[in-house]
Formats: sequence, structure tokens, C-alpha cells
Amino acid sequence: MATTSLSEAPDFNKADYPLYPVAVQEWRGCIFVCLSDNPPDLVDSFDRGSDRIDNWPLETLQVGHTWRKTMQCNWKVFWENFNECLHCPNIHPELCDLVPIYKRRISGPRDDPDWSAHKADPDARYRGGLRPGAESWSCDGTALPDGFDTLTEAEKERGQVYFISLPSVFIAGHRDYMRTVRVLPLGPEETEIEVEWLFLPETLMRPDFRLENITDFAIMVMDQDAKASELNQKGLRSLRYEHGVLMPEEQYVKSFHDWIKNALD
Ligand SMILES: [Fe+2]
Repeated sequence: MATTSLSEAPDFNKADYPLYPVAVQEWRGCIFVCLSDNPPDLVDSFDRGSDRIDNWPLETLQVGHTWRKTMQCNWKVFWENFNECLHCPNIHPELCDLVPIYKRRISGPRDDPDWSAHKADPDARYRGGLRPGAESWSCDGTALPDGFDTLTEAEKERGQVYFISLPSVFIAGHRDYMRTVRVLPLGPEETEIEVEWLFLPETLMRPDFRLENITDFAIMVMDQDAKASELNQKGLRSLRYEHGVLMPEEQYVKSFHDWIKNALD
């Protein structure tokens, strides 16, 4: 019996059955995909304007390491944790040692309601930045020999800068490398984070390059945050749970809640 393939069938047009279209946009070497029929402007999704990391050479960097972790928590629980430092002294002793202002349960000098009283204080607990003698986010606080010479002195001294595109990714910039963290919901109580460390090509070629001195530090911190997020998720399951109370230090959690409410309207 003769058979006819679909491509030969007179009433079948392959073009009528394409793959689902998705919006794709390249931005500084990163590819963003949006499944919405009406994708928002990518730049508008960034939290503090797209110029915040202009001086970091993001598109020229190469991936030196990738790390994935699946957390037993909803993606919003992860972002709530990300948006406050109230928990920092309790679960991040090593990070608080490197970034002393975190010991005060705040993320930056202007998060202190009384910031103007301390604006000239050189103590890292008030001015922000890294502890004296530390140069970057690494296990021993040292920076790579090949730093980013495109940064201003103020940007180098800042220690870290965050660049966020809710709800999918944040990028951390340091004076010598960058780190991207993609957040992917896998289910109502399961979220994957995929972390990439990005370096100058010449850094990766160095025979004395100590990758673990950098990656182990952030992995330790992110493991601590993952554990806290999973504990928070367990708390939400309690039959007694109704809602929590936001503290003044959780102003960015409030902003995150507002962002969700806006998206649901
Ligand atoms: Fe944390």
C-alpha cells in the first residue's frame, strides 16, 4: 500500500504548525528569553537602570565555573531572603567578616535611618565596602592580579555591586570577576539556582589561578541562604501560619512584594 509523508500531503502545510514563538534578546553577551506574548522591555526589568554595571566588561568575560543547586523552596521565598540582610549576622558569619556593614543587618550605608550621622565615618561598618585589607569576594579576601581596569576607584572600593532583573537573574560585580545567578522555578516548592563565575580570558590562562579561592566563598554563602530559604518554606507549611511582619530592615522585601502585586494586577 502506498503511503504519503506529511510533507507531501496536499492539505498539510508545515508552516501552520511551527514551534511556539518566544521573545529573545541579547544584552551584553547574555541571552534573555521571555515566554510572554507581550514581553516587557528588557532594560526596564533591571532594578536600578542599565548603567549600573556599565564599567564592568561583562560581554568580554568567559565562564570559569558553573554551579547548580536545587532548593526545596518557592522562588519567591528565595527572593525574599535575597532582599534582606536581617539574617546576615546569624547565618553568614564569614560574609559579615568580609563586609562589616552586614553585621548591622543592613546592605548599605543609606539603609541606616541615621546614616547622615555616620556619613564621614571611615569604619567599614558604616561606610560599607570590604574590611580593611580585603580586596574582593574570595576565601582569603585577595583579588586576582588581573582586575578590571575599566572601573573607577569608587567602584573598586565598593566591594560588590548587584544588578537584578526580577524574577530571573541577578549579577554581582566585583573588582576582578563577575557572578551571574539564574533563578529557575521547578515547582511550587522547588527552585534551581545556576551560578556562573565570569573572568577575563587572561585570568583563566594564568598557571597560578586559584579558582576555588573565589568559588568556594560564594558557594558557602549561597548554601547558607539556601538552607535559610528551605527553613522558611517549612515554616509556611505550618497550619498556624497566617502571615509574618516586616521589619524596617526589610524595606526591599516590601518592594519585592509590591512588584509581585503589580505583576498580578
Ligand atoms: Fe543571605
